[in-house]
Amino acid sequence: MKSCWIIYNGSLVNDKFRDQAELIQEAAERAGVSPRIYKNYEVLMDVTAPTDSLPDFVVFLDKDIVLATYLQSLGIPVFNDPEVIERCDNKTKQAIALAHDQIPMPRTILAPKVYPKFTIRDSGYYERVLSELELPMIIKEARGSFGMNVYLIETEQQYYEKVDELRGVDFLFQEFIASSRGRDIRVNVVGQQVIAAMYRHSETDFRANITNGGVAEVVELTDEQIDVALRAAKSVGADFAGVDLLFDRDEQPLVCEVNAAAHIRNIYNVTGINVADAMIAYILEVIR
Ligand SMILES: Nc1ncnc2c1ncn2[C@@H]1O[C@H](COP(=O)(O)OP(=O)(O)O)[C@@H](O)[C@H]1O
Ligand SMILES: [Mg+2]
Repeated sequence: MKSCWIIYNGSLVNDKFRDQAELIQEAAERAGVSPRIYKNYEVLMDVTAPTDSLPDFVVFLDKDIVLATYLQSLGIPVFNDPEVIERCDNKTKQAIALAHDQIPMPRTILAPKVYPKFTIRDSGYYERVLSELELPMIIKEARGSFGMNVYLIETEQQYYEKVDELRGVDFLFQEFIASSRGRDIRVNVVGQQVIAAMYRHSETDFRANITNGGVAEVVELTDEQIDVALRAAKSVGADFAGVDLLFDRDEQPLVCEVNAAAHIRNIYNVTGINVADAMIAYILEVIR
């Protein structure tokens, strides 16, 4: 019997991370795999004396890149690959990959690194960004989930305050896709196949995230949406991905972001499709 570890972040107290791990655990059991859930800190990373009872594979639901890299170094297949988790966890790196592969996306400009105690306010960089993208504009921190670190910037004052506040943080500037205000599509991809999708919309916020007040419903994807979601997942190298799609002026898809550790509870509740079963089936096929 094959065994697997399912790893989530133990420092996050919200129940949804445990719940996510349990969905995978149940799917593993259904597939005849013996699963064990670990909080990331339950694996002692003694690199000089590695643990000997290792699983056949790891489903990594966290962004603890150090742990993922360590486990992979012990020869265990880790899903997603730690490099993919790292790329997706950083929206600036992800944007570079997507743009390189000519995936349709909002116009995006990356912010230069500024040390927190210093400023480049007089460099002209921010003025150039402003004249290229104009207001309103989106500013996104490289790291963040549930819409928490995504800002709609409507005035020059907000703009300069935000760039000032974000010194020391990786972030990017992005064209605001007004035709997609408060609505997007989440597509869950497993191994180059669309498994489930939902339309999310919010009446109260420009962000469609469910955690942020958005509501979701089943959606039938267009061929273009399927094609763009699959290309986006492939571009970042993800075995599993939650691809967020925006709607351009002609309702055509633009990639908003690719999540490597996409949550699967909401999409299960909305569509009745348990993405975990597809994830386990895919892994068993890959490691066969
Ligand atoms: N360029 C954009 N134009 C319009 N809406 C956007 C844009 N970028 C993000 N959004 C909205 O904000 C939400 C959160 O952004 P996203 O990049 O997915 O960050 P997070 O990782 O926090 O989910 C998206 O689901 C979408 O509704
Ligand atoms: Mg998102």
